[in-house]
Amino acid sequence: MPKLKLPLPPIPDALKPPPRRPGTGAKEGPLDTAKEAGISAVDWVDERTSLSGGARWMMFRKVPKGTNWFYTLGSATMFAFVSQAVTGVFLAMYYDPSPTRAYESTRYLTNEAFLGEFVRGMHKWGSTVMVILIFLHMGRTFFFGAYKYPRELNWIIGVVLLILTMAMSFTGYLLPFDQRSYWATIVGVNINGTGPLVGPFLSDFLRAGPEFGATTLSRFYAIHMLLLPGLIGALIGAHLYLVAKLGTTAPPWMKAETDPELRKEEQ
Ligand code: HEM
Repeated sequence: MPKLKLPLPPIPDALKPPPRRPGTGAKEGPLDTAKEAGISAVDWVDERTSLSGGARWMMFRKVPKGTNWFYTLGSATMFAFVSQAVTGVFLAMYYDPSPTRAYESTRYLTNEAFLGEFVRGMHKWGSTVMVILIFLHMGRTFFFGAYKYPRELNWIIGVVLLILTMAMSFTGYLLPFDQRSYWATIVGVNINGTGPLVGPFLSDFLRAGPEFGATTLSRFYAIHMLLLPGLIGALIGAHLYLVAKLGTTAPPWMKAETDPELRKEEQ
């Protein structure tokens, strides 16, 4: 059977340059000029990179009938991650990961820095929101059967994203270095140590030495703000590539329509 190739989706009207009006005397307002400038800038970059093809491939896709609000949970999780990354950058401007300074720098950030309490609150509550959203998104993909062929790999990437997100919460919890975070993390690291085979290695790696202390804090900080966000960012990229390539699954209650064109080709 010959492979049907779908045409590329059209360029949205907003991106099409308006027809030129040479010598008509029609005055261009500042808004027209600004619009023109924006379009020329996009054209300039596109002429040199051909990025618009990729952007159209990613953004203007056919979605199955029956697509509903539950399909926004993945993007909501992504938004929560971006918000964590942005607020985290501002927290890192004040936070000091040394055992003698960590608590004090967090106290300063909360009580004295401009909008510090607000940004810290966004980061703290944002982490809970991200965990809730990721579970809801996983539930949606599970109940809609989106883990089945050909999307198994995307499910596996999702599972790794879930583990990394939990690891983000675990490593972030220690950073304020108050009594609660200190003792709770010791319990967490010890629980990790009881895991089969890799458990003891994992807890040694997390403790970063025989005793829980200064080296543990800087290790947690490096994992929390460099290693894990980098991995999560890269995996979200792979996850979205597969979503764009394979399309999303129709809800299970939708029936497939028979396309008369395809029927003809089959006969
Ligand atoms: C940081 C975490 C994650 C982000 C940012 C993310 C993002 C997305 C987005 C934007 C979509 C497009 C459709 C939709 O939103 O429903 C999607 C689809 C999908 N996700 Fe995730 N996801 C994450 C975690 C997970 C997890 C934990 C799983 C499962 C273990 C998972 C499995 C899937 C599958 C199977 C699809 C395809 C859905 C379909 O074909 O209908 N994702 N993801």
